[in-house]
Amino acid sequence: MLAQLGVELRVIRVGDRILRTFGVVDLCVRADSRGQKLASRLLDEVTSYAAACGLDFVILFADEDALYRRHGFARVDNPLSWVKINDHRTIGLARSVTPHEMMVRPVSGATWPTGEIDLLGHVF
Ligand SMILES: CC(C)(COP(=O)(O)OP(=O)(O)OC[C@H]1O[C@@H](n2cnc3c(N)ncnc32)[C@H](O)[C@@H]1OP(=O)(O)O)[C@@H](O)C(=O)NCCC(=O)NCCS
Repeated sequence: MLAQLGVELRVIRVGDRILRTFGVVDLCVRADSRGQKLASRLLDEVTSYAAACGLDFVILFADEDALYRRHGFARVDNPLSWVKINDHRTIGLARSVTPHEMMVRPVSGATWPTGEIDLLGHVF
């Protein structure tokens, strides 16, 4: 396989709004195939599919953001809560953390809301 990513359909809450999102995880391109825009194509295809599904945002977490900024993602810094899972066990809740790695891309022109984010599940 040359390139892959994981996508999860996730309904989340931000402030008082309920949003339908795709969470993107594990974007990876085989070492000898990097720099040929394969990751770029995957990110655009995921966003097109999200639009076709009537979703609001595509979400991911990343340290290095240049690639994602070029594809319409922006960092958000709302306080964030999620379910902590380890070794197939729920071990607690992370509450009101501001991780700084979260990025979002609007799918159909929606504005990212203010307020606390509840991921209603594990972090991506
Ligand atoms: C990041 C990665 C998926 C990019 O794949 P790609 O097909 O080469 O990407 P594209 O050709 O579409 O775009 C290249 C851009 O990716 C970005 N990039 C390179 N390495 C990166 C990294 N480790 N993390 C995030 N972005 C990276 C750069 O902005 C690069 O642009 P530049 O060459 O102008 O600097 C690939 O380098 C990879 O699989 N890295 C290892 C796994 C990884 O770090 N995944 C990201 C998890 S957030």
